Amino acid sequence: MRKDTNATLLLGQTLSFSANPFELPVTEAVHLQSAGAVLIRGGSIAAVGDAGTLRALHPTARVVDYGKGLIMAGFVDAHVHYPQTAIIASWGKRLIDWLNSYTFPEEMRFGSKTYATEIANRYLDLTTSHGTTTSVSYCTIHPQSVDAFFDAAQTRGQRVVAGKTCMDRNAPDDLTDTAQSAYDDSKRLLTNWHGVDRLEYAITPRFSPTSTPEQLEALGALWSEHPDCLMQTHLSEQTDEIEWVQSLFPAARDYLDTYEEFGLLGQKGLYGHAIHLTERERARLKDVGAGLIHCPTSNTFIGSGLFDLPGLMAEGQRIGLATDTGGGSSFSMLRTMAAAYEISQLRHTPLHAAQLLWLATIGSAQTLHMKDKIGNLAPGMEADLVVLDLASTDAIAQRTARADDIWEAVFPTIMMGDDRAIRAVWINGKAA
Ligand code: GUN
Ligand code: ZN
Repeated sequence: MRKDTNATLLLGQTLSFSANPFELPVTEAVHLQSAGAVLIRGGSIAAVGDAGTLRALHPTARVVDYGKGLIMAGFVDAHVHYPQTAIIASWGKRLIDWLNSYTFPEEMRFGSKTYATEIANRYLDLTTSHGTTTSVSYCTIHPQSVDAFFDAAQTRGQRVVAGKTCMDRNAPDDLTDTAQSAYDDSKRLLTNWHGVDRLEYAITPRFSPTSTPEQLEALGALWSEHPDCLMQTHLSEQTDEIEWVQSLFPAARDYLDTYEEFGLLGQKGLYGHAIHLTERERARLKDVGAGLIHCPTSNTFIGSGLFDLPGLMAEGQRIGLATDTGGGSSFSMLRTMAAAYEISQLRHTPLHAAQLLWLATIGSAQTLHMKDKIGNLAPGMEADLVVLDLASTDAIAQRTARADDIWEAVFPTIMMGDDRAIRAVWINGKAA
């Protein structure tokens, strides 16, 4: 019999979603198979099913047996700043002071392509080891910081979204561009990288306080010329920031209006944080079907506030989950899910483990308009997977020993947020 050298059969418990567990009971939304298998061929998932059946159908496939390991889609981190990798968990500041004290000085270093390449690779190594298979990253104002990140991801066969961060005011001189250069550089980078292999470009005004109306207008024009691109920015993260926006844009109805006015509100827009929203902002975001990106470890770490996940989900907003490295205090999406749980608890709404996993995979993928490519285990999807060990440490093992069902093992694994739970990661059909 000829060996099916291109096919790999992963054995373990499998978890896939057939519906949204915020909309249907978990038993209907989640498909769990205790003796499951995933067949990978090339960079894609060829089949998902029962281990016995798939073994019989594909007797020559290479087999990797993860025992009781839980095989699921890799995590999709919908908002990060890879250039902030080296300053993660910097102490004692709130947003604006944190940017000025830690972030901007570090981002200035990315004028060096060598340094940018070193940090891009360090960031991708760290996040891969935490089970993240797709990241959506801000770069710095330097075009070479974008090239460095895309180069590193391309070499790994990894799906990423990234863009040059644009700022033409309220930042150090060495860290500002202009309306015209932001437009020109973004357009050139977009032309070079968008749609190449697994790479996508996102037009990236940092946030309205660091862009003049002219720059926002130029980037809105660029987006209208390339509506297939994502656009990412920050929205209503801290109350001081909102007051600052009001003083800089006195005619704006609210923070979102500073984007809407310049053509920067749309279905392919990703709005990081979105904590302190007005009724009008919520209605507009919902109308256009924009992506709201919840960054819970950042929101507690920088002291920003409690994202209204239960309320926003109930009104039908599209919501993704993200670390916001390095305002977020962790590279781990497990730790990030734990923080999302804690914030929702403070709003008197405990999230089910299935809802947390959904947010970290399909939820994020949906905001990126990539739900048909990543975020779930299904035939035809790209083979980006994580395998979780549900008894990875003594602390978790003694807890899961008491579990009556798999969720009682998955939930403590999420809450303890220990990267030893990441048993294996597959990116583009290859063990990473
Ligand atoms: N708002 C504008 N820039 C940033 C950033 O780098 N991190 C966070 N958390 N918020 C921001
Ligand atoms: Zn951010």
